Amino acid sequence: MGIIEVRNLTFKYANSDKPSLYNINLSIDKGEFLLITGPTGCGKTTLCKCLNGLIPNSYNGDFNGEVIIDGLSTKEHPVHEIAQHVGLVFQDPENELFCTSVEKEIAFGPENLGLSREEIRRRVEEAMAMVGISHLRERSPYELSGGEQQKVAIAALLAMKPKILVLDEPTSNLDPFSAYSILNLLFNLKKEYEMTIILIEHRLDMVAKIVDRCVIMNEGRIIAIGPPEEVLYSDIVESIGIGIPKIVKLVKTLGLSSRPLSSNVLADILKVKK
Ligand SMILES: Nc1ncnc2c1ncn2[C@@H]1O[C@H](COP(=O)(O)OP(=O)(O)OP(=O)(O)O)[C@@H](O)[C@H]1O
Ligand SMILES: [Mg+2]
Repeated sequence: MGIIEVRNLTFKYANSDKPSLYNINLSIDKGEFLLITGPTGCGKTTLCKCLNGLIPNSYNGDFNGEVIIDGLSTKEHPVHEIAQHVGLVFQDPENELFCTSVEKEIAFGPENLGLSREEIRRRVEEAMAMVGISHLRERSPYELSGGEQQKVAIAALLAMKPKILVLDEPTSNLDPFSAYSILNLLFNLKKEYEMTIILIEHRLDMVAKIVDRCVIMNEGRIIAIGPPEEVLYSDIVESIGIGIPKIVKLVKTLGLSSRPLSSNVLADILKVKK
């Protein structure tokens, strides 16, 4: 059994006339780095809300099927309990930050768990170190750059010690350099701490080579799932008009049979061919 099990999940918002998710089945292993992508309105954010229990607990609608997070069914456990297993990062970190310093921001969650002062201190230090923002500890979150704010939001979640992070387009308001820095951080969290990472992302050029598996959604359904070489090179991805990685376009134009996802690998293939 995966750390996340989504079984026959269909969800329709109360004020909507058709479901936003249709019969989703997904099993995610512990330590997996999963990319979810698809055109706007296909249901990615709705699926994220199902993965941390906001749906069905805080939204009205018709919820069918089951979502099990680390053994807990989201139908039977409240959001605050699920939140100890899954941290959800949104597009715009500014809306999530409200304390006067980075340290206080990160301590806020653990303080609400009623932990001892030492344990809180330890968690704050560890979370800042994991994300590489210890030098920002006394700064006000409001005066930080978008990329730094996103790191503070991630550290605040890590201080709750979740095993799973779900990130809904965390880089969409960031410049390419900051985006790269966040994606690299996620890769390290997976590699060094065996965290399970579910990333909603449009920057396929940057993520294709770091994820284990890709899910492509369209109109509330999963239309492709598998390793990135398989999914991103499939015709189905091209047919729904999402921005496929430049390298995939180039390799298809060159008519190569291999499926590299990084320019280094492509360069090696071309060298051998010469
Ligand atoms: N609170 C809501 N009430 C009713 N319908 C909603 C609600 N939130 C989303 N929807 C609808 O559900 C569908 C999926 O929306 P969702 O936000 O999950 O898509 P998305 O893939 O995240 O899109 P984007 O790429 O633009 O972020 C859309 O048709 C949307 O209009
Ligand atoms: Mg969305």
